[in-house]
Amino acid sequence: ATSETPGPVRVEESDGVAVVTIDRPKALNALSAEVLTALGEAFAALAARGTEVRGVILTGAGGRAFVAGADIRAMADLTAAEAARLARLGHEVAAGIEGLGAPVIAAVDGFALGGGCELALACDLIYATDAAKFGQPEVRLGLIPGFGGTVRLPRAVGPQAARELIYTGRTIDAAEAERLGLVARRFADREALMAGARAVIEEISANAHTAVAIAKQVLTAADGTDTATASGIEVEGFERAFATEDHGEGIAAFLEKRDPSFTGR
Ligand code: HXC
Repeated sequence: ATSETPGPVRVEESDGVAVVTIDRPKALNALSAEVLTALGEAFAALAARGTEVRGVILTGAGGRAFVAGADIRAMADLTAAEAARLARLGHEVAAGIEGLGAPVIAAVDGFALGGGCELALACDLIYATDAAKFGQPEVRLGLIPGFGGTVRLPRAVGPQAARELIYTGRTIDAAEAERLGLVARRFADREALMAGARAVIEEISANAHTAVAIAKQVLTAADGTDTATASGIEVEGFERAFATEDHGEGIAAFLEKRDPSFTGR
């Protein structure tokens, strides 16, 4: 099934895998308020579908960019207070991605700069082509990251590499991003990237959907908390997973030496 909506964000779905494409190639898919609102709506609609959605691939159209950042042209007309509202909107989109009960893979081909890098960081995994480029160039515009870069980049690459990237505004290539741990997997071209992302979602889909969703919730909720808090969040999630029908099915299938048949309950 494909839901083609006119506008800057397209959602295409097949076999439980949704591909969300930011489609504004003339501006290298820059995030205007309109794009952010459409993205938020797209992820809310996917969340409402529940367990039918097994995974999401978030990508950019046009072959040159994932997202080249917040829309600089649109930002030029904003007051500081309006810009802060835009930043909050970006954080809401990130929360929607993190709140979705299915894994989201950022498929990055070309530029993922500023808000684009931050949007990718809100996803569960970042996969990239060799042509991908990452950076937080905000200081070159007299700004700082505003869609979560100061929060998620240090968690992804450690505080040293994050500070260097944010203070220099430097752009790094896919190989360096992979070495830093920003990119989980690297592919030769876009076709291989999309196929690789889909294959991993299919691999994940063979598992108990609720367990994957709870694992995502726990990883997200525990991120940045102290060990005792994180451990408490894990035990609470473990208990919820233990109480699912799918856990019973997983155990029964193991003991009966057969493949499990999970229902998402
Ligand atoms: C609006 C953008 C854009 C952006 C590119 N374009 N990036 N428009 N916002 N972030 C537009 C250009 O104006 C141009 O439009 C077209 O896309 C093609 O870009 P070019 O610059 O001509 O391409 P190229 O020379 O190849 O350079 C590519 C580039 C460069 C290196 C990616 O475009 C660039 O530096 N872009 C800005 C990157 C950036 O600073 N991002 C961070 C933004 S701040 P025309 O009409 O001229 O053809 C941010 C803050 C987040 O993200 C938090 C906010 C709350």
